[in-house]
Amino acid sequence: MSQPLRLGIAGLGTVGIGVLRVLRQHAELLQTRTGRAIEITAVSARDKGKDRGLPLTRYAWEGDPVTLATRDDVDVFVELIGGDEGPAKEAVEAALAAGKDVVTANKALLAIHGQALAESAEAAGRTIRYEAAVAGGIPVIKALSEGLAGNDVTRVMGVMNGSCNYILTRMETAGLSYEEVFAEADALGYLEADPQLDVGGIDAAHKLAILSSLAFGTKVDFDGITLEGIDRVSIDDIRAAADMGYKIKLLGVAQMSGRGLEQRMQPCLVPDSSPLGQLEGGTNMVVLEGDAVGQIVLRGAGAGEGPTASAVMADVCDLARGLKAPVFGRPATSLSTATPASATVAASYYLRMSLEDKPGALAKIATVLGEAGISIDRMRQYGHDDTSAPVLIVTHKTTPDAIASALSAMTGTGVLSGKPVALRIEDV
Ligand SMILES: NC(=O)c1ccc[n+]([C@@H]2O[C@H](COP(=O)([O-])OP(=O)(O)OC[C@H]3O[C@@H](n4cnc5c(N)ncnc54)[C@H](OP(=O)(O)O)[C@@H]3O)[C@@H](O)[C@H]2O)c1
Repeated sequence: MSQPLRLGIAGLGTVGIGVLRVLRQHAELLQTRTGRAIEITAVSARDKGKDRGLPLTRYAWEGDPVTLATRDDVDVFVELIGGDEGPAKEAVEAALAAGKDVVTANKALLAIHGQALAESAEAAGRTIRYEAAVAGGIPVIKALSEGLAGNDVTRVMGVMNGSCNYILTRMETAGLSYEEVFAEADALGYLEADPQLDVGGIDAAHKLAILSSLAFGTKVDFDGITLEGIDRVSIDDIRAAADMGYKIKLLGVAQMSGRGLEQRMQPCLVPDSSPLGQLEGGTNMVVLEGDAVGQIVLRGAGAGEGPTASAVMADVCDLARGLKAPVFGRPATSLSTATPASATVAASYYLRMSLEDKPGALAKIATVLGEAGISIDRMRQYGHDDTSAPVLIVTHKTTPDAIASALSAMTGTGVLSGKPVALRIEDV
């Protein structure tokens, strides 16, 4: 009989307690599947006296996660504290230095320090597993690094922040403003303590940075992401996009173009009949594209106790079985430094503007677009109020630079009332 795999778990919040529950509930099943018992030796959190809904007396308690990570009777250090600095980082570094494998759900840590940690792990002959760090319960890390290992990955896309998708879908279904739904989501506890992590797109961008590295063999490059949150998405845009057959999503896209690695996390339009367009509420979706496989769509719960614990346990089971892959799918020292390219891949754009009720106003806008080399695919003009009329335009494929120069030229036409809105339409 193989030796048990002994875990040290730091962090007993939503994810940590979920892992404890799964381990208690499925101890026998896990042993049958992996061929060895999986045991918890010791745990760590800030407050030893907190009622966590489970008895913890059978595990040793460590106040300091670094001490936990380096215990002789711990084989795998499970980091479920969070944050890209502080105790999580110190404990993961200590665990690797002490020759332990690491399982973590911490996307911030990997998005910022992934390369250095991967190099440390590989130098020590250890690995870091992080299925729960991207899209919660969806096994996207495994799908990309193992399932698509035979492909040249061409593009990775995803809606990877459930709170943003909840806000955008709720705005649409209830006809509420961004501010109203934000307040609702906050009151329901759907947002992080710092809501910018969610609505500013940072949390989703951490996940995209990790996926890019796995997909394209590049060092994690969070700073190379063009990042824009959902706070400028208005109910007017949601309604107008719906009218033209689209949904607005906070969409992460990573693809390699001739000019380098393009990574974007920004509100985009997607066709409302596409899988991404159909995604409602807090659910996540990741779309992977490879030259041999074509397109794969993965959908599921991106957060919460059960789904995240499911992903953590998948990593633990792999380690129990002795499966060890390089952290980012290939040796860390062979990962290349990405050349960041900002949106060089052409796309159609959605433009919404309000035109003053003057003769020739629309013709002036059409001229500006034509001079920027942008052709119009579809256009819709709505009824005038007293002084202006809303106009929607869907362009043929063009570059972000052309759109930027057209928008700036439009302001000089004297026919615009207010600022025009431009959103990319992603081909999905
Ligand atoms: N929640 C999700 O759905 C989800 C989904 C995917 C990934 N994740 C990631 O999983 C990780 C954990 O998230 P969570 O939602 O479980 O967080 P959480 O509920 O806030 O729990 C964090 C835990 O870390 C402990 N902790 C904080 N500072 C510590 C320190 N200095 N030493 C020891 N323990 C410390 C806390 O102790 P006390 O309880 O004593 O305060 C708490 O038990 C994060 O990286 C997060 O991004 C979460």
